[in-house]
Amino acid sequence: MLTRTKTEADHPVVPSPRAGAAFVLDRVSLSYGRHEVLKDISLDIPRGQQVAVIGPSGSGKTTLFRLLSGFLMPTAGRILSLGQDTRGLRGRRLRALRRDIGVIYQNDNLIPSLRVVHNVLMGRLGHWWFGRALLSLFWPQQLQAARDALREVEIEDKLWAMPGELSGGQQQRVAIARLLVQNPGVVLADEPVSQLDLRLGRDVIELLTRFTRQRHSTLLVNLHTLDLLQGNFERVIALREGRVFYDGAPAGISRPMLSELYGAEYRALHLDQLDLGEAP
Ligand SMILES: Nc1ncnc2c1ncn2[C@@H]1O[C@H](COP(=O)(O)OP(=O)(O)OP(=O)(O)O)[C@@H](O)[C@H]1O
Ligand SMILES: [Mg+2]
Repeated sequence: MLTRTKTEADHPVVPSPRAGAAFVLDRVSLSYGRHEVLKDISLDIPRGQQVAVIGPSGSGKTTLFRLLSGFLMPTAGRILSLGQDTRGLRGRRLRALRRDIGVIYQNDNLIPSLRVVHNVLMGRLGHWWFGRALLSLFWPQQLQAARDALREVEIEDKLWAMPGELSGGQQQRVAIARLLVQNPGVVLADEPVSQLDLRLGRDVIELLTRFTRQRHSTLLVNLHTLDLLQGNFERVIALREGRVFYDGAPAGISRPMLSELYGAEYRALHLDQLDLGEAP
């Protein structure tokens, strides 16, 4: 049994060369009624960092993402998202923050009644005048932008397809193409590969990490497939029962640590078979 929370001091993360913080959490707690879901969390996430958030079901990962994007406000403490205190944000300034934070989920990222081209161009809605945005639903003015984004995720031929005609992996690629068009400062990906097999999941994570790195965007991915941690992320934040259980480099993750973190889920997730890249 570990007796204390491991911290960055144990496995220091190399500081990002890009100045400024994407997110600062200062003693943040969040309760639903009397149920305290996140407890006294303090974190500093520099701009451009690529972070995996892990932890058992119900540990508060999705809740953390909703706080960062300003969809939930902390019950106690303070969050600075891209330099702004989320508690003070209303109306136009809150919408502007949300436009600069791209979000991708495990499924249902696309509007099923719209062709791929229009789904991709939805990423532009924040940048267009309302009328032009509406018009684009009928005639894609930014056809070339959509084509370029789909080429980057290697499904240019699906420009005019309906989402229902695509595989799960292709649908996630369309969602990434929409993020490319949106070009946000931060991407929050909540289990983006949970519905995919390991090979397709690896492709999607590599696309996400590559394009955010190229654009110096910050990336936070909530991940259940721990095989995808090594090589893709510079920092891992593990939550357990609403608290930070581990915060450091992927290299600091060990089997005993995962066993304690996941408890009863450890075997169900086949974590005992996980390749941690350790020396034999
Ligand atoms: N809208 C809500 N109202 C009340 N309780 C909620 C609400 N949303 C989440 N919770 C509770 O908050 C806790 C954390 O939920 P959260 O969705 O953040 O977990 P998670 O780590 O994302 O889990 P999973 O890996 O299963 O997605 C859970 O106990 C959940 O039941
Ligand atoms: Mg969740």
